[in-house]
Amino acid sequence: MPAQHLPDNLETLVLYCRAGFESDCALEVQTKAAELGIYGYCKTGEAYVCFVPANGRQDIERLLGQLHLDQLVFARQWYPVVVLAHLDRENRLGPVFEALAGWPRAGQLVVEYPDTNDGKALVGLGKSLSKPLLSKLQKQNRLTRKLRSDLPTLFVFLVAGDTLMLGWGCPDEINPHPMGIRRLKFPKEAPSRSTLKLEEAWHQFIPADQWDQRLAPGMKAVDLGAAPGGWTWQLVQRHMMVTAVDNGPMNAGLMDSGQVEHVREDGYAWQPSKGVEWMVCDIVDKPARTADMVIQWLLNGWCRQTIFNLKLPMKKRWDAVDLALSHIQSALDEAGLRYQMACKHLYHDREEVTVYIWRQS
Ligand SMILES: C[S@@+](CC[C@H](N)C(=O)[O-])C[C@H]1O[C@@H](n2cnc3c(N)ncnc32)[C@H](O)[C@@H]1O
Repeated sequence: MPAQHLPDNLETLVLYCRAGFESDCALEVQTKAAELGIYGYCKTGEAYVCFVPANGRQDIERLLGQLHLDQLVFARQWYPVVVLAHLDRENRLGPVFEALAGWPRAGQLVVEYPDTNDGKALVGLGKSLSKPLLSKLQKQNRLTRKLRSDLPTLFVFLVAGDTLMLGWGCPDEINPHPMGIRRLKFPKEAPSRSTLKLEEAWHQFIPADQWDQRLAPGMKAVDLGAAPGGWTWQLVQRHMMVTAVDNGPMNAGLMDSGQVEHVREDGYAWQPSKGVEWMVCDIVDKPARTADMVIQWLLNGWCRQTIFNLKLPMKKRWDAVDLALSHIQSALDEAGLRYQMACKHLYHDREEVTVYIWRQS
């Protein structure tokens, strides 16, 4: 369903993010909305942000039409909502049904909570609300009996015992994963938990039908700051030949694969003798230093695709990310490179974000 058919009473946009990153998420959505001429204020909760634009629903429709969730770094999920606060604990569902009057038919009902300990404490309440809600909406034919992922999702976002948000998520605009989180199983054989960061990045940035082409067996890869080898392990699983650059020790089992060459050098100074397909980098250093290194790799044609982390120990994380990405973009644009670039604060990222760049010329 196109965004212009949003129910009338949706005047706020909720965005989920990692707890502690609310002000970055708020500043980013405000900045990107303002670039489109949409102005509003934010209210932050724990692990979520509400963006309230000046012209309510009209602004939200325009924003959802012109900005995609993938273009936001810090938001895991977003959808328009109506906020129901100060609910009577004896009759929470009365106002819910009132607010839902006139909403079109949804393809599924999803009840969620902020990704925090307080949020987890609301799971029981969510379950007790969803049963009667589901059965009444289905009886009224306002919710399909079988899940329909081609229809919008009706969200109930519970933020406190007496406060919830009713949301409307159109299929092309929302993150399909519960809580906006892609859960991955830690592979027992991998040398470090960091391995999940690279795996999640591939899922985030490379469509499944392009893995065979962009993560192909036999490709050459360089892993800067590789030890003990979680990222190298992922590259080896894709049957790539990997140069692992790190002064620290690599996992012995991984070295036994015969697909890894360990080079004990400074990752910021080391250069490949010939171009490779992939360069990945998980070194903890200043974003500006990593950005300069990545620019050098791309402009010299040392790699075609790269995934790297920008580490963010500072307070103003959105400013630091914006600065580093703008710097890379200007350098690549000035050189006339054609490329795709995307950046996300992944679930497995902590004080860092992950960037993907694919050089196409
Ligand atoms: C976060 S760990 C990398 C973890 C790795 N991605 C994994 O999945 O196992 C960062 C690594 O960067 C290395 N490192 C730090 N500065 C470096 C530099 N200038 N050159 C190469 N490696 C560096 C450290 O020795 C450390 O092993």
